[in-house]
Parts: sequence; structure tokens; C-alpha cells
Amino acid sequence: MRVGFLTSGGDCQALNATMRGIAKGLYTIYGNDVEIFGFEDGYRGLIYGDYRKMKPEDFSGILTIGGTMLGTSRTPFKYIDEPDENGVNKVEAMVFNYKKLRLDALCVLGGNGSLKTANRLSKEGLNVIGLPKTIDNDLWGTDITFGFQSAVNIAAKAIDDIHTTAASHGRVFIVEVMGHKVGWLTLNAGIAGGADIILIPEIPYDINKIVEAIAERNKEGKRFSILAVAEGAMSKEDAALSKKEFKKKRLASAYPSVAYEVAAEIQARLGSEVRVTVPGHTQRGGAPCHFDRVLSTRLGAEAASLIKEGKFGVMVAAEGQKITAIPLEEIAGKLKTVDPKSDIIRQAKLTGISFGN
Ligand code: F6P
Repeated sequence: MRVGFLTSGGDCQALNATMRGIAKGLYTIYGNDVEIFGFEDGYRGLIYGDYRKMKPEDFSGILTIGGTMLGTSRTPFKYIDEPDENGVNKVEAMVFNYKKLRLDALCVLGGNGSLKTANRLSKEGLNVIGLPKTIDNDLWGTDITFGFQSAVNIAAKAIDDIHTTAASHGRVFIVEVMGHKVGWLTLNAGIAGGADIILIPEIPYDINKIVEAIAERNKEGKRFSILAVAEGAMSKEDAALSKKEFKKKRLASAYPSVAYEVAAEIQARLGSEVRVTVPGHTQRGGAPCHFDRVLSTRLGAEAASLIKEGKFGVMVAAEGQKITAIPLEEIAGKLKTVDPKSDIIRQAKLTGISFGN
């Protein structure tokens, strides 16, 4: 049994833990009859034949180590059919290298774009298994992705820590949270960190409502307010723009991101001091949390089982307490967003959190 591994797209905390799960599962099932090949820097390694043969020791002591020992890169799906600068056909090159190495299976640890490419390779006849990676939790077909909970913990810790300084100075604080175009990370970190106002892309905000919520808190004698703002949050006005118009507006904006724009608007209307904190890539850094270690181990081991069963063209997924497999073609290109009418939003609102709408 010859199996290739690659990690693609933005990294996260539990990539090594997941590869360890697959590898340990494979070594248990196949003993010495398995060879694992690690492609360097994601699909780039598969395209250009950069790989290394892994040893069982490579998968020991990595459960707690963030990042990815194989390296990663972004190979956008929209350019996958465009030849590279030297005229190399990327899909053909990947199929060629897979066959040259006589692989029986390829495990792709990736998010949305990476799994679209995985689906493409599966349609080219390769035996592919996807593993759902991303701190954004925006992958269709799985309740949760590995990396997400670790990032929630980091963003929530940032919000926790802001409380004392916000209270001391009686300031408004904004913590800008990653998550790309969806609000899962901000929503969960905001609730866990006790944010007063949470802004997510799925619920376009009205600046007047935000100001009202802060003013209301001030009236109640609360000296500070904390906002968790998703990097993809949008005002009602911006949400009404076309994609092109919005992009143009963003590029021309005086503010580096939406959090700074909201801060300036609050400051102008309330005259209160507003500070912005951006934990940024720390949300993808450090060790995976315990929850992710368990999830990654289970997803990885299940991928090994699927290889044994010869079940390919699927992504391993978490469904409630179960680990399942879902066809790649069912999930490729679909985004899992927060439903503004979901229970979690209703419950958060009941506890007094404002979504600025
Ligand atoms: O998809 C993961 C993510 O961290 C997003 O939350 C964020 O928008 C993006 O990647 C940042 O990308 P990069 O690391 O390329 O700056």
C-alpha cells in the first residue's frame, strides 16, 4: 500500500495531528506493508514531484505541534487548468506524479479550494480522500473542521484578556476575528469571550444599532463595551453592493479593514475612545487544543479505514458524535455559512448580545 499525503491552503493547528492519525491507522492496519510519501508545500509538491518518503518516526511527537511538517501553499482552484509559467499542465502533472509513484491513495488535508482540486483529481481517476481542515469551519458536509476549535480558543482568549483593560479605561474595544467570508469563528469566540456585540458577514450590520447598543450599555452604568467583529463583516449598505462594487470600495477605503471602519464610526458618533485589536494569524498558530487533537485523531484514523475499504472520492466528516464519509462532489465548492435564524443566534440574542441589526 503506497499512500501520498499533502497539506494545502492556509495552515492550522491540527494538520500534524491529523497526519499522525492517518499514519498510525495505516501502520496498525498494514504493518510494514505501507509506504507513505509526503508532498512538500501542498499541491505544488504533487505538481513538481517534490516529495519525501516518510518514516514511522516522523509521525511520533507531532500530536501537539501546530503548522504542518510538510509545508503548505495556496494553489487556487480557479487557475488549476491554466498552465504554469513554463507551460506545465498542473492537473496532468499531478496525475503523472501520482502514477509515477505508483500510489494507491492520496490524502488531501485542505479547505474549500483544496477540496475542489481533490474532487477534480478524483474525477481524473485518482484515489483521493479529503480531510476537512480550516479555522473558518466553512466546509459543507461536516459539522466541524479541525483547526476551528483551536482558533476559537485563541480568539476567545484575546476577547477575555481585553476585558480588564477595557474596564479600566472605560473604552470600547473591537477584536477583529478571522474566518474569511463566514462568521463561525467570530460567533463562537464572541460568545465564549463574553463579547457584547458580534458582527458577522451573514448578518449585515446597521451602524446606528451598534451605537444604540453601546449607548444602552453606558446608560446601564457599564463603562466599556467589547465588539467581536469578523474580518468579513459588512454593513447593510455594503451587503447591497455587487461583488465588484464592494471590492472597489474596499480598495479605495482609508481603513485597513472593517473593524477600523466600525471603530471610526462609533468614535465619530459617540465621542468615546475606541481601540482595535487584531489577533490575526495567532489564530492559526501554536498547538492544537485538546478537542482538535481528538477530532483529528478520529478523522485521520477513519481515513485509514476508508483506504483499507477502498472507499475513495470522499471527505471524512464529523456528523454529531459520528465520523462519516461524504462524496467530494457533494461538498466541492459549497460554503457552510451561519444561518441568522439558527438556535445559536437566537440564544446569543437572548443573553443580550447584539448583532448590530
Ligand atoms: O482560511 C483561513 C484564513 O486564516 C482565513 O480566516 C483568513 O481570511 C485567511 O486564511 C488569511 O489568509 P493568509 O494566511 O493567506 O493571509
